[in-house]
Amino acid sequence: MAQALRSDPVGLIIREKEPTNLETPFDQVDSFLTPTELFYIRNHFHAPALELATYQLRIDGAVTNPFSLSYEQLRAMPSETRVATLECAGNSRVFLIPQAAGVQWELGAVGNAEWTGVPLGALLERAGLEEDACEIVLEGADRGTPKEPPVPRGPISYARSLPRHKALQREVLIAYQMNGRDLPLDHGYPVRAVVPGHYGMASVKWLTHVHVVREPFRGYWQTSDYGYWDELDGNPVRRALGEVQLKSEIARPRVYERIAPDQAYRVSGAAWAGETDVTEVAVSTDGGQTWTAAEFLDPVRRHAWRRWTFDWRTPAEPGRYTLLSRAKAANGSVQPDQHEPQYGSYVVHHALPIEVFIDDRTGASV
Ligand code: MTE
Repeated sequence: MAQALRSDPVGLIIREKEPTNLETPFDQVDSFLTPTELFYIRNHFHAPALELATYQLRIDGAVTNPFSLSYEQLRAMPSETRVATLECAGNSRVFLIPQAAGVQWELGAVGNAEWTGVPLGALLERAGLEEDACEIVLEGADRGTPKEPPVPRGPISYARSLPRHKALQREVLIAYQMNGRDLPLDHGYPVRAVVPGHYGMASVKWLTHVHVVREPFRGYWQTSDYGYWDELDGNPVRRALGEVQLKSEIARPRVYERIAPDQAYRVSGAAWAGETDVTEVAVSTDGGQTWTAAEFLDPVRRHAWRRWTFDWRTPAEPGRYTLLSRAKAANGSVQPDQHEPQYGSYVVHHALPIEVFIDDRTGASV
């Protein structure tokens, strides 16, 4: 008789075949570090093939000593290894009502990895920033025509800027390793930026050019795309997305999971924040009427997520139930109940409803 085998938790969910956009099955991640083969991939264009032998990283613009580095020269510099959570700014877009345009990410455009590389600050120090240098533009080798209007004339590269202050923080890495191995092609081989605390779009992959500028960079990827509406003296102003907003997600149960009544069930998930620390996660199993504190599996570690669990006695009464999780952070912020409209189809960080069925025909509980 055929036996039901529990398959290994490998494999990603296809959101778009080309360019490659693959989502982590969030319910299958139970380790602090997301295994590289399970880490989501977000590419705007076809991944470029860069050769190690000819690779060059150019650092120029408003600096006193512009220079280029080969891959070997970069590897020879003192390195640092840091854990950082990367979340795509469009993660959880599928929860928006009405549906928003863009890749329909569920819960898994987020992952937590260990990155090794050279602090960007060390390269900028060597280049010598001019006094009036205000932003650092990071440019990748990939090129194409973006999808979201207004579409620029002709193909463009993927480029994002960082404020000078952030670029000089020790945590911002020019990375060549992920989870202890060379970067895979889709994660930016051979060299990428990793900007802990900022949404994933800041962590430019296939990095070949660091350009220091004297006025704010208004490129496509921080005006047309990856921008939001802020307010200045009562007027709406468009700004580039940056810092990650506080968020928690439920990994288990899954949406519409069937669970036996009156059983012990371990609800689990993760929570993360940008430039602050997650201090509390509470869970509701009744659609937000009552909340109970969850327990953390991981200690506070700036820029890395904290996994959490909550032991639930499932209701005796069959029916449909809504689970929610809500995080609080050291800076006093709390996850909102609703999506914040100024962010459009990005920064979906409100408490996300996970609906499940308590079903007395369900044989086993977890
Ligand atoms: N860098 C380049 N050059 N091209 C890209 O399309 N996508 C960005 C960022 N860096 C992108 C890029 C976005 S939107 C995200 S969320 C992260 O890469 C995703 O990193 P990952 O694919 O390693 O998970």
